[in-house]
Amino acid sequence: MSRIITLLVIFAIGAMPEAAASEDESADSALAWMLGCQGCHGADGRALGDEVPALKNTVARFLSVPGGREYLVQVPGVAMSPLEDEAIAQLTNWMLTTMDSQHLPTGFRKYSAKEVGSLRKNPLGYDAADVRAHLIGKNMALFSN
Ligand code: HEC
Repeated sequence: MSRIITLLVIFAIGAMPEAAASEDESADSALAWMLGCQGCHGADGRALGDEVPALKNTVARFLSVPGGREYLVQVPGVAMSPLEDEAIAQLTNWMLTTMDSQHLPTGFRKYSAKEVGSLRKNPLGYDAADVRAHLIGKNMALFSN
């Protein structure tokens, strides 16, 4: 695992000058994803084993369940990330639109740094999987395919 992380870091450093030179938020988010999320979620957010759920074609469904919007930022991998609130907001908006645009609710309101900052004050811990199951249980049909 640490070898994989080393490789990711080497790869990301190689890609960094291009991203740093760009004002493009999506390039910054793609890099943040690579450095901080891809190690567990894979490059494209597919499900990995029984532990890591798919984000691809799924993650935006949580926005249609009460409490889901909060969950997406309070989940430990996001809330405990070393990134600043602004970067997390951009990364979360990027993740939702690139990995699961088809489930974005109409009138989707982008996350702001302020919203992220206040949600992160209450991160989930070991209870994350229970909270996740509870949210899915609120609308099984929504998550069923
Ligand atoms: C150490 C591994 C790990 C890292 C690093 C990680 N995640 Fe996760 N992520 C998980 C696991 C496991 C879950 C399932 C919920 C739980 O048990 O925490 C999850 C759940 C999620 C969810 C909720 C989706 C769902 O179906 O439950 C989102 C959104 C998410 N991660 C985004 C991210 C982002 C963005 C990053 C990088 C900033 C990141 N994660 C970093 C392991 C990780």
